[in-house]
Amino acid sequence: MIEFRNVFKTYPNGTHALNGVNLSVDKGEFVFIVGASGAGKSTFLKLIMHEETPTTGAIIVNNMHLENLKRRRVPYLRRTMGIVFQDFRLIGKMTVYDNVAFAMRCIGKKGKTIKKRVPYILELVGLKDKAHNKPSELSGGEQQRVALARALVNNPAMIIADEPTGNIDPELSYEIIELLSEINKRGTTVLVVTHEHELVESFNKRVVRIEGGCIVSDTKDDDTMVAI
Ligand SMILES: Nc1ncnc2c1ncn2[C@@H]1O[C@H](COP(=O)(O)OP(=O)(O)OP(=O)(O)O)[C@@H](O)[C@H]1O
Ligand SMILES: [Mg+2]
Repeated sequence: MIEFRNVFKTYPNGTHALNGVNLSVDKGEFVFIVGASGAGKSTFLKLIMHEETPTTGAIIVNNMHLENLKRRRVPYLRRTMGIVFQDFRLIGKMTVYDNVAFAMRCIGKKGKTIKKRVPYILELVGLKDKAHNKPSELSGGEQQRVALARALVNNPAMIIADEPTGNIDPELSYEIIELLSEINKRGTTVLVVTHEHELVESFNKRVVRIEGGCIVSDTKDDDTMVAI
């Protein structure tokens, strides 16, 4: 589903963010990406989303070669992924319902389909009762669940989350990862960048560690994949 072959990324100012990354993620996997600040984690995700392009190397996502992806193909790529950010990025003027429905309207879904799908997704993330509230009336964890609902509503093949728990309490962080884990069990591939060591330890998932733009460990390569 995701393949990196000897990927290097150097930003225009000369910063070497990724230095020869090789990695493959299969459909249905759940992967934590960890590493120090500046290690290259967000760059790695941005390359998957095609927000940045590699300097050299090949990247294949959902059978699309990103190193030479045509501009008109980018929307097709993006539709295969739901993206969750650390700062939620909800629309403050819209209700919870409309924040989620908006993602469907954007890709031209019919009103009838939206009316059926949005309540279902809000129920899935446990926010049915907050459908008519504004984001400012919700807790951080609830806001992040709205963001997750929005990422999920168009049924993406994968969810990509860059520190989705960075702005919420530890207990709520656990809840968000648990929710991602549930979604993963239904077949969606999940990639999560996080700084939270304890969180990673409490879930027995694949962990890829990036340091200085290189993958320095991957529990998938360990024969002894017991604990991290
Ligand atoms: N647009 C950019 N232009 C130039 N350098 C950049 C750019 N974005 C990131 N970098 C640099 O690339 C390196 C990797 O950055 P990246 O954002 O991928 O790190 P990160 O692992 O996500 O860190 P953090 O945990 O702090 O979010 C860093 O040295 C950073 O300063
Ligand atoms: Mg980052």
